[in-house]
Amino acid sequence: MTTPTAPLTGRTVVVPGGTGNVGEGIVRAFLTAGATVVVPSRSRQRLDTLTRLIGPDLSAHLQGVDDPYGTFDEARALAERIATEHGRVDHVVASVGGWWMGKALWDTGESDWQKYFIDTTTAHTALARAFVPRLAPDGSYTVIAGFSGRKPYPSAGIVSMHGAALLMMREVLSAELRGRRRVNDLVLGPVVNRSRPGGDPDWLTADQVGEAAVALSRTPGVTDEHIVLNTVADLKRELGRMTT
Ligand SMILES: NC(=O)c1ccc[n+]([C@@H]2O[C@H](COP(=O)([O-])OP(=O)(O)OC[C@H]3O[C@@H](n4cnc5c(N)ncnc54)[C@H](OP(=O)(O)O)[C@@H]3O)[C@@H](O)[C@H]2O)c1
Repeated sequence: MTTPTAPLTGRTVVVPGGTGNVGEGIVRAFLTAGATVVVPSRSRQRLDTLTRLIGPDLSAHLQGVDDPYGTFDEARALAERIATEHGRVDHVVASVGGWWMGKALWDTGESDWQKYFIDTTTAHTALARAFVPRLAPDGSYTVIAGFSGRKPYPSAGIVSMHGAALLMMREVLSAELRGRRRVNDLVLGPVVNRSRPGGDPDWLTADQVGEAAVALSRTPGVTDEHIVLNTVADLKRELGRMTT
C-alpha cells in the first residue's frame, strides 16, 4: 500500500489544465514527489511556458502533449495514447477551466455560455469518462473546483453553474464506482498564483494546492469526498488528517 509520504517514482500522473495558474502548482508538486507528469494542452506555446516555469531540473519528467480533449472522442484517444505509452495511468488531477465574471445571468450571451459552461463542462466529462476506466486499481481521480460551485457568485453565474455541475459529476462517479476507484474533489477558495501574485495571507498558493493534490493521491483511505480548501488553516487540517 502507498503511504502518504512515499515517493511517486514510476507513477504516471495526468494533469489536464496543468498549463493554467493553479495547474502549474499541481504539476510542480507531483514532479517534486518523483512522478512522471503528463500535461495535455491545446497549445504548444502554453506547454513551453509551463516547462520554462517548472525549470530544467524538475521538467525532465514532465511530458507536454499538444492534444485536445474537448470532445469525448478526443479525450478517449488521448487516454488511450497515454496509457499505451506509459503502460499505466495512476492519478489524474483535472484543473480545467478558469474564472469569468461581468454579467448577470439574464445578460449573459450565448458565446460566453458556450465557452465557460458548455466547453469546460464537456471537457471535464470527456476526461472523466476516458480516464476513470483506465486508472490503475490503486489510482485516483481528483477534480479541481472552486468555491463558486457551492455558493452563487453574482455576475459569475456561468462559472457557478459549471462548478456545481463538476461537483455533481464527481458525486455521480462516486455513486457509480462504489469504491472501485478513488474519486474526490478539491473545492478551492481564491488562490495566489502567477497571474495574481498578491493576496490575502490566508489564501492558498498554487503550490499548496499541489501539495494537497499529492497528499490526496497518496492516501488510500480518502475517497468520495468534497475537500474544502478555503484557507491555509484548511490545508493544514486536511494534510494532518491525510498523514495520520
Ligand atoms: N485561480 C483561482 O484563484 C481559483 C480559485 C478557485 C478555484 N479555481 C479552479 O481551478 C481550476 C483552474 O483554474 P485556473 O485559475 O488555473 O484557470 P486557468 O489559468 O485559466 O487555466 C485553465 C486551464 O484549463 C485548460 N482548459 C482546457 N480546456 C479548456 C476550456 N475549454 N476552457 C478553458 N480552459 C480550458 C487550459 O489548458 P490549455 O489552454 O493549455 O489547453 C488551462 O490550462 C478551475 O476549476 C477553477 O475553478 C481557481
